[in-house]
Amino acid sequence: MRKPLMAGNWKMYKTPAETAAFFEKFLPLVAASNHADILICPPYVNIAAAVAAARGSNVEVGGQNLHTANKEGAYTGEITGAMLRAAGCSAAIVGHSERRQYFGETCATVLQRTLAALDAGLRPVVCVGERLEERESGRTEEVLAAQFRDGIAKLTPEQFGWIAIAYEPVWAIGTGKTATPDMAADAHRYLRSLVRQAYGAEAAAGVRILYGGSVKPDNVRGLMAQPEIDGALVGGASLDPVSFASIVNF
Ligand code: 13P
Repeated sequence: MRKPLMAGNWKMYKTPAETAAFFEKFLPLVAASNHADILICPPYVNIAAAVAAARGSNVEVGGQNLHTANKEGAYTGEITGAMLRAAGCSAAIVGHSERRQYFGETCATVLQRTLAALDAGLRPVVCVGERLEERESGRTEEVLAAQFRDGIAKLTPEQFGWIAIAYEPVWAIGTGKTATPDMAADAHRYLRSLVRQAYGAEAAAGVRILYGGSVKPDNVRGLMAQPEIDGALVGGASLDPVSFASIVNF
């Protein structure tokens, strides 16, 4: 039985003061939510505020990215996984489609960042997903297979055991267009079959595959009712404490 992972990706939103205010409202709403692991990934400058606010609670804090190298050095504007870990993070999102689209992320750098996260003791949440034109031209599985092959399948079985996968169809992110539960479950089933081929049945049964893309309080139940969907990676709707709590408590 896979424990759901309900994760919030705050992207480039909120100040430290707004972060503290969020946690003050959010924590009581999820204090009894032991059915799921809960993760919030704020912008770097808010990690200290989030970790301080979440101390002693059931909410973990993660990064949204990290540098490909796991060693400190002269890389202006970058941070290492070890820094995230030392700041109190337990996880990091890797390979988000916005990083692929706007910041030149490739499957090769996704793999490097995944390895850097693992090296630092962070659990990577590795994102994959097809763009609209790829879905419309019937290439969804081909795209997922390539992202899996080049970005995930090069991990050792032991390394693979630490990751979660997030299926985020790019056309559903921030657009209000959610994949239907059936569409998402099809993609998750396909991804799990790739895991089975690469790492075997036990790994396939154990890995958590989250869905992301316009998850809201009013569509989360239908998605989470799919046995293939093991959690959510939530953008916009994770910024409001009441909204994200109702998603966590689907
Ligand atoms: P939205 O929930 O705003 O569509 O964003 C999804 C996402 O990109 C989470 O990583």
